[in-house]
Amino acid sequence: GLDDPALKALLLGNVGSLTPENALKWDATEPAGGRFSLEAMDRLLAFSARHRLALRGHTLVWHQQLPAWLDGLPAPQLRAALERHVRTLVGYGRGRIQSWDVINEPIDPEGQGLRRSLWLDTLGPAYIADALRWARQADPAARLLINDYGLEGDDPQTARKRVAMLQLVDDLKRRGVPLDGIGLQAHLLAPAEGSPTFRTLPVFLAELRRRGLQVEITELDVSDRLLPADTAQRDRRVADTYDAFLKAVLQEPALRRITSWGLSDRDSWLNTTFPRPDGLPQRPLPYDEALRPKPARSSIAERLQSITPPR
Ligand code: XIL
Repeated sequence: GLDDPALKALLLGNVGSLTPENALKWDATEPAGGRFSLEAMDRLLAFSARHRLALRGHTLVWHQQLPAWLDGLPAPQLRAALERHVRTLVGYGRGRIQSWDVINEPIDPEGQGLRRSLWLDTLGPAYIADALRWARQADPAARLLINDYGLEGDDPQTARKRVAMLQLVDDLKRRGVPLDGIGLQAHLLAPAEGSPTFRTLPVFLAELRRRGLQVEITELDVSDRLLPADTAQRDRRVADTYDAFLKAVLQEPALRRITSWGLSDRDSWLNTTFPRPDGLPQRPLPYDEALRPKPARSSIAERLQSITPPR
C-alpha cells in the first residue's frame, strides 16, 4: 500500500497513526523458530518516522496467522517461544512503537470466559499475564493493550463478552499485571433495518475508565453485507453507522485514538472474510475503490470536528 503514490497521499492527508494489517503478525515476523524476519517492520518504522506518524504494533499473541512450527510444542517450549517472540518484537520497536496489541481476541466468541486456542489449551490463562509482563520489560514506555471484537453493540452476546473482558481485566489488575488499555476493534455491521444504536457502549467505556484503563478504537470499519445492493443507500447507512458509533465513543475521556481498518474500499478485508451474499464488493470505508471520498468520510469529519476545532 505504501508504494502506491495515490494511497500514500491519501494516508498522509488523513491520519496521524499507522497500524499494519498483517506485517507484524507471527507468521510474518517469525516464520521459523528464532529466525525473525523484520524487514517489513523496518520499512514501517522508517516510514512512520519520516512522516512523523505514530506506529501501532499489531499483534503479538493471537490464535490466527501463526506459523506451523508452533503446533505441538510442549508447554515449556511453547512458553519459551512466546517469551522470545514478545521480547524480540517489543524490544525491536522500543521507543518507536507507541502502542501494542499484546493480546488479540482472548475472549470466547460467545463470551464464556477465555477463548480456546493454542495458547490457552497449552499454557493455561497465565499466557496473558506472562506476555504483558514480558512486553512491559521490553519497552516500559509502550502502551500495552488487550484487543478484541464484538464489544460495541447492544445485543446479549456483546453483553456477555463485556462481562468476560471486565473479569479478565479485574483479575489482571488484582495481580498487578501491567495493562494500559483495551482496544475495541469496532468491526461494525450496518443494520438491515432501523438506525444503528450504541446505547450501552458509553457505560462499558466508563467501566474501563473506572479501572484506570485507556481505550483505543483499533480496527474501525462498517460492513454493508446486510444492506440491499443500491450504492447510494448503502453509503448513507454506512455513514449513519459511523456517525452513531463516533457519537457514542467521542465523549469518553479515556479514548486515546481511533484507527480505521483501511481507508479505501479497494483494500477492505471484508470482501474475503465476510462477502456479501450477492457477491458485490462491500463499501465499508471512508473512500471508495477509486479513492473518492464517500458520505462516511463526511460523517467522520463532522463528528471529529465537533470535538476538535478545525485547524
Ligand atoms: C485481517 C487482515 O485485515 C486481513 O488482511 C488478513 O487476511 C486477516 O486478518 N481482527 C484482527 C485483524 O485483529 O488482525 C484482522 O485482520 C481482522 C480481524
